[in-house]
Amino acid sequence: MKHFTNIIASAAVLAASALTAQANEFRLGLITPPPHIWTKAAEAFGAELAEASGGAHSVSVFPARQLGNEAEMLQQLQTGALDMAFMTVAEVSNRAPELGAFYAPYLADDIGHAGRILRSDTAKTLLEPLAGEVGVVGVGYGMAGLRQIVARGDVNSAEDLAGLKLRITPFTPILDFYNAIGAAPTPMPLPSVYDALANGQVDAIDMDAELIWVLKYYEHADTVVQSDHMMFPMVGLVSARVWAGLSEEDRALVGDLMAKYVDSTIDSYVEKEAGWLEQIAGTGKTYTKVDASFFGGAIEEWNTIWSEKTSSLDALRATAAETQ
Ligand code: BEZ
Repeated sequence: MKHFTNIIASAAVLAASALTAQANEFRLGLITPPPHIWTKAAEAFGAELAEASGGAHSVSVFPARQLGNEAEMLQQLQTGALDMAFMTVAEVSNRAPELGAFYAPYLADDIGHAGRILRSDTAKTLLEPLAGEVGVVGVGYGMAGLRQIVARGDVNSAEDLAGLKLRITPFTPILDFYNAIGAAPTPMPLPSVYDALANGQVDAIDMDAELIWVLKYYEHADTVVQSDHMMFPMVGLVSARVWAGLSEEDRALVGDLMAKYVDSTIDSYVEKEAGWLEQIAGTGKTYTKVDASFFGGAIEEWNTIWSEKTSSLDALRATAAETQ
């Protein structure tokens, strides 16, 4: 509740410039395809909001980048042209570098631990400045799975990644990680990844187990390295301008329900991650499971860079230790 009180206080700063009209037909954008867990959660959120508001509010969900890429959607949220989004924390961290601390390699021991970190008060606190600094209200976290590496050719050590064109989600913490490894990180949005791997535009990709399995990214690869090297949080966002135009009652309704559904994605990944990995391991591709030692000095290098870029790293590490 303290979290929402602070959000409401921050959003009040924006109230002066807020649209006065009440927006009842919300538009929610996201980049994931229709069958993806995030998209399903967004649709379920819309259905429950419509029911709980007696039909006063509705949510139209626009998946698969129909409203633009995440950078464009974030801009639309800032102006109030878009009401809501389920967005990678990766994109938001491009505007709010403190969130980059979530990507500390091996901050989480496993998928369940990643969920506990994201449900912590420390994590919630990191959302509070977003209304004032970025123009979006962060209602709570969801996630996708831990990150893995899928490659054409053999990968027996991190040295084998050196010089490889390796697809990354476009955000700085992951760029720093693969630069530290000596790879050639290649920022690329999700919809371009399958073809890029198939036609050799990239040699490898950084990806989660769900998408490796469901979108069959393994098909054009020889090696899957289960490294579990990073968590991949998502955040439920409401435009701060739209939020400021809502009544307190509607803020509570929208905020609580959206938080419930983004949070539900954490349970989905905790439940399903091991099954996807098992199926990927059964594809006949070379499948190796590695730990932090695989990446040698790259992790220390990342830690050095990011302890200067963010002050939240220590607090998140302490939370990670408490929630082990
Ligand atoms: C990615 O860029 O790898 C990604 C984006 C959204 C959900 C899952 C993965």
